[in-house]
Amino acid sequence: MQSPRPLSLSAHSPLTGTITVPGDKSISHRSLMFAGLAVGESRITGLLEGEDVLATAAAMRAMGADIVRGDDTVWRVHGVGVGGLLQPQTALDMGNSGTSTRLLMGLVASHAITVSFTGDASLSKRPMDRVITPLSQMGAEFTASPGNRLPLMVRGIAPAVPITYTLPVASAQVKSAVLLAGLNTPGATRVIEPVPTRDHSERMLRGFGADLTVEETPEGRIIAITGEAELKPQTITVPGDPSSAAFWMVAASIVPGSDILIRNVGLNATRSGIVTALKMMGADIEEVDARDVGGEPVADLRVRHAPLSGIEVPPELVPSMIDEYPALFVAASFAQGRTVARGAEELRVKESDRIAAMATALQACGAAIEEYPDGAAITGTGGEPLPGGARIETHLDHRIAMSMAIAGLNAKSAIAIDDARPIATSYPDFVDTATALGAHSAWLNQ
Ligand code: S3P
Repeated sequence: MQSPRPLSLSAHSPLTGTITVPGDKSISHRSLMFAGLAVGESRITGLLEGEDVLATAAAMRAMGADIVRGDDTVWRVHGVGVGGLLQPQTALDMGNSGTSTRLLMGLVASHAITVSFTGDASLSKRPMDRVITPLSQMGAEFTASPGNRLPLMVRGIAPAVPITYTLPVASAQVKSAVLLAGLNTPGATRVIEPVPTRDHSERMLRGFGADLTVEETPEGRIIAITGEAELKPQTITVPGDPSSAAFWMVAASIVPGSDILIRNVGLNATRSGIVTALKMMGADIEEVDARDVGGEPVADLRVRHAPLSGIEVPPELVPSMIDEYPALFVAASFAQGRTVARGAEELRVKESDRIAAMATALQACGAAIEEYPDGAAITGTGGEPLPGGARIETHLDHRIAMSMAIAGLNAKSAIAIDDARPIATSYPDFVDTATALGAHSAWLNQ
């Protein structure tokens, strides 16, 4: 294990230029999993080559899929067929990735194999009961560490029992885990989601030829998948990740004079809440050349510096921007007036407790942030720099690391993050992109 890599970003001039963001993380995971279950060769362009997605690739390989990255950066996958996953020889190391873990637990649950999952210190603290509960109802068996955490072992079953499951938390990971278990389960497996969450699994599974229906009802969306499915290989272009783009939307908004273009940003409505929230705050974000890439809406985003005002973030935006709250809290720290974001208690069980981590981090930098069980209230500087001058604990959380690095772009004294390594889970080129926009990066002593 390498040692921590403290980092500080700063900006002495406006951010300018045209950048691209890496492929969408959620879609990248799903591309490898679904292609890994299809019979024949799928090709994936624009895959996010971050550690989380590479953990999914390694796991699918360990269960029999043939996954190769060409020199042309196109990934070619020959799948095993639904029902064809092989018993892996060793435990699957999921690193930092909750999405890999929960979705793969779903896949394994309806195959007659036994699989152990391990992860890093952050992932080993995260709750897995949310997937263990429905997957147990389908017949899988689990031996987990105390508190239903990793390391854990899944004993899958084939055939599994189809269930109808109402999501108790708004979670695309839980929804997807049940649907993926349903792929190899005879009959109709249903998930009822009272609050809509990202719908990449539904869109992509249909694209791969699964029999999947979505019905809007007063109780919510009912998603039904009929197994045993046969998936056909696909050619996939992964759009840019709006969660990665969010850091630059905030950066350009808070650094005076900035004017940037972010190319190829996925704007699926179940993901684009941050654009809505920032625009409500007064951000100058223009969608240019709106188009469709691989069945997902995409646009280039021109973002110019603008004075921001505090808002009450509409609670209905929570699921469509759940990963963007750390970045939003940074934007709010520079707004005029108070921003209140509530209804987001899920933030406490992400890669870190993101409410606590951001409250501690921003307070250390001189921002006025008050913590709630389900969110925070922040009174901003009205565009003035933050005092800064702090070293931030990032708790193995890439989004805390990137958000606080961005906060450093408008601070009187440097803001250092204690460890930039977790950034590689989702955004290996983050620092290069910052410097391409004109920011300065400094790698610091521990
Ligand atoms: C994801 C779902 C979300 C999100 C995560 C990716 C997915 O998690 O936070 O980064 O790809 O399905 P939850 O399902 O826990 O909300």
